[in-house]
Amino acid sequence: MPDKSAELVLSDVVRPGQSLLRPVQPIQDLEILDADLDEPKFVAVPSDGASSVYVETYGCQMNVSDSEIVASVLRESGYGLTRDADSADVVLLNTCAIRDNAEQKVRNRLRAFRARKRKRNPDLKIGILGCMAERLREKLLEEEQLVDLVVGPDAYRDLPRLLQSAEVTGQSAVNVQLSREETYADIAPVRYDSNGISAFVSIMRGCDNMCSFCVVPFTRGRERSRPVVSILRECAELIDAGYKEVTVLGQNVNSYRDGANGTSVSFAELLYRISALSPELRIRYSTSHPKDCSEELLHVHRERENVCNFIHLPVQHGNTETLERMRRTYTREEYLDLVSRARKIVPGVTLSTDIIAGFCDETEEEHQDTLSLMREVRYDHAFMFMYSERPGTYAQRKYADNVPLDTKKRRLSEIIELQNSISLESNQADVGESFRVLVEGSSKRSEDQLAGRTDGNKMVVFDKPGRRPPAPGTFVDVKINGCTSATLLGSVIN
Ligand code: 5AD
Ligand code: SF4
Repeated sequence: MPDKSAELVLSDVVRPGQSLLRPVQPIQDLEILDADLDEPKFVAVPSDGASSVYVETYGCQMNVSDSEIVASVLRESGYGLTRDADSADVVLLNTCAIRDNAEQKVRNRLRAFRARKRKRNPDLKIGILGCMAERLREKLLEEEQLVDLVVGPDAYRDLPRLLQSAEVTGQSAVNVQLSREETYADIAPVRYDSNGISAFVSIMRGCDNMCSFCVVPFTRGRERSRPVVSILRECAELIDAGYKEVTVLGQNVNSYRDGANGTSVSFAELLYRISALSPELRIRYSTSHPKDCSEELLHVHRERENVCNFIHLPVQHGNTETLERMRRTYTREEYLDLVSRARKIVPGVTLSTDIIAGFCDETEEEHQDTLSLMREVRYDHAFMFMYSERPGTYAQRKYADNVPLDTKKRRLSEIIELQNSISLESNQADVGESFRVLVEGSSKRSEDQLAGRTDGNKMVVFDKPGRRPPAPGTFVDVKINGCTSATLLGSVIN
C-alpha cells in the first residue's frame, strides 16, 4: 500500500478538516467517461415559461462542462431551458470537430432541425456552438444556410445579445472570436444533468501543443488557466451541495499554471489544495499530456488519499517515429519510462489512454509497435480511434492521409480486440479483491442493482443489499466475484 500519511509541504493550503459536507440529493445517472464520445448528451432544466432553449452536447467532457456554462449565461438572461426539442424556441448544438464522423452527426442533426423550422416552426432559432463554430462559420451561414447563430467556445457570454439580435433582425448572428483570457471563472455552471454526486470543474482552456493530427488548438485557441481561488471556491460549493467527486477538466489539464499576483501554482499543487478541502471529496482529472506528468503530480496521487489512483495518459501511438510525426514530444521509451515511474510512485495506479490507428504513413511495423506497447503497459481502459484528417492541421498540410480505409479499420479492430482482452484480464485479477465504491445510482440494466466506480475508475455493479440499500453518494466496500471486460460484479461487504 502507498504511504498516504506523509503530506506534501505546500504553501497556503486550505486547511484539512474544513469539511462542508451536507446530505446528497441524488438526481440521476451520469456515466460520461464510458459514453461514446461522439454520441450526443441531452440536457436541460425545466422551462419556466420564458423563451425556452434546448441544448444538445456532442464530444468531450469539456463540452458537457461548457454547456453548463451556456445554461448559466442563458438562465441569467431570463431564458428557460427545456428537455423537449419539439417545444423549444431555440435549439443549440454544442459541437465537436475532433473527427469527421463527429461533424457529420451534427450536420445530420442540423438538417433535421432545419426541416422542422421550415415545415412547422419558422420562428425557431438554430445555433451552432463550440468547436465546429469557428471552423465552419462561413460554410454553415452562407453555403448551407443551416443556422441562425454561430458562437465559438470563448464567446458564450455574448449568447444573449446574439440571440436577441437574431430574433429582432431575423439575420444570422456570429461571434467566433477566440480569447487569450476567457476562463468563465466567475460563472457558476448550471449542473442540469448532474447526478448530484459527480461534477466537472473546468480549470483551463485551450491547448498550445499542436499535435499534428489535432484540430483543438485551432478551434479552442491558446492555453489559459483559471485562477486557483475561483476553482477552490467552486469545489467548496460542490462539497457544500453534497457532491462527492469532482473531475477537473482541461484540454491539457496538467499543464495548468496560475501565475496571477506573482504566485505560481502548478497543477500538482492545485490538486493538493482541492484534496485538502475535504477528505470525503474524490478527485479525478482529464485529460493530461505525458510531458506534463511531473514527479510532484505523481507524489500528490500517492500521498493524498482522495486524489484517485487513476491517470488517463494518452499515448496516441507506440512507435517513436510516428510519435515524432504526430509531434507528441516524447519517444516510446520515454513514455514507458513515465509509466514505470508512475507505477513505482503510485502502486496499483490504474491507467487509461487514447490511441490512434492508421495515422499518415503508418507502416505495418509501426502499427505492431502500438500493439506491443499496449501489451507492455497493459492499460485498464482505452479510447481507440481511426485517424481522421482535419483541415488546417499540420498533418493535413504536410502529410498524406495514405493508409487505406480498410487497413485503418483492420488495425483499429486489432487494437480494440487486444484492449478488450487486456481489460478482461485486468478485471479478472480484481476478482476476490474488495474495493471502496462511490454509489452513483441504479445500474443501467436493473433497478435491483446499484452501480458505482472504484478509486481506479472501474465500473462496479452489485445487488442492492437488504432493506436499507446504500443511497447514491455513499461509499461502500464491495467484494468482487465476477467481471466482464467493461465491468466488475460484486456484493457489498459493509
Ligand atoms: N483523428 C482521430 N483521432 C483524433 N484524436 C484527436 N484528433 C484526432 C484525429 N484527427 C483523438 C486523440 C485525442 C482524443 C481526444 O481524440 O486520441 O487524445
Ligand atoms: Fe489536441 Fe494534442 Fe492538445 Fe490533446 S494535447 S488537445 S491531442 S493538440
